[in-house]
Amino acid sequence: MIIAPSLLAADFTRLGQEAKRAERAGADWLHLDIMDGQFVPNISFGPAVVAAVRPHAKKLFFDVHLMCGQPEILLEPFARAGADEIIVHVELGEKVPPLLWKIRSLGKKVGLAINPPTAISAVQPYLGKIDLLLVMTVNPGFGGQEFIHECLPKIQQADAWRRENRLTYRLEVDGGINNQTAAECAHAGADTFVAGTALFQKRNLGAAIRKMRKIVGNHDPGLADLKI
Ligand code: DX5
Ligand code: ZN
Repeated sequence: MIIAPSLLAADFTRLGQEAKRAERAGADWLHLDIMDGQFVPNISFGPAVVAAVRPHAKKLFFDVHLMCGQPEILLEPFARAGADEIIVHVELGEKVPPLLWKIRSLGKKVGLAINPPTAISAVQPYLGKIDLLLVMTVNPGFGGQEFIHECLPKIQQADAWRRENRLTYRLEVDGGINNQTAAECAHAGADTFVAGTALFQKRNLGAAIRKMRKIVGNHDPGLADLKI
C-alpha cells in the first residue's frame, strides 16, 4: 500500500522543508497538485516549484497531478522538474491518447484521473495503457473538502476490471482521505492513498502516516498476487 501526502496542504512558506519532513516521516510518495485556474477554479504551483522541492526529498516518488486544461505544454517541464509520474484527467477527451503516449515517451509513469461526476466507463479504453488510475473522491481544486462516498462503487469497479483483465495499474484515491475514508477505499480495492489535510496538518506526520498505513494494510486486497 502507498501513502502519498499531498503538498497542497503543506506550509507554502517552507515547501522544501515540508517535502523533507514527509520523506523523513516515512511517506512513500509526494503528491503534487498542479492547478491552472481553468480546468479547476484555483491556482497552485508550477514546474519551477517542483524543481525547487525535488532536491529536498530525493528518495520520494513525485506523483504529479495535472489539473490543467493544456497539459500538453506542461509534460516536458514537469518531467525535467523531477516528476516520476504524471497524471492527466480523462475529462480532457480526445487529448488523452496523445497525452498518455507523450508521458510514456518521456520515461515517466502514466496516470489517468477521473472526477466524481464522470462515469467510470470513460477510463475503460485506457486501462491497458496506464500505470495508475486516480479516482477523485472530491471535485478537484481545493484541499480540505468532504469525501464523496458515491465514488466508492467506481473504485470497486476499477478494481474488478483490474482483476478480470489481469492488469496491474495502481488504484489511487484523492480528496477527503483520512483514516476512516482510507479504510473504506482500501476495502473497495484502492492501494494508493493521497491525503493532504489528514497528514500534513498533523504535528507528528510520521505517526499519522504509520496509523493510516496500518489501517489500510488491514484491507490489503491481496496485491501480492497483482505483483505491484
Ligand atoms: C484536490 C487535490 C487533492 C487534495 C487533497 O484537488 O487533487 O490532492 O490536495 O487534499 P485533502 O486530503 O485535504 O482533501
Ligand atoms: Zn491531487
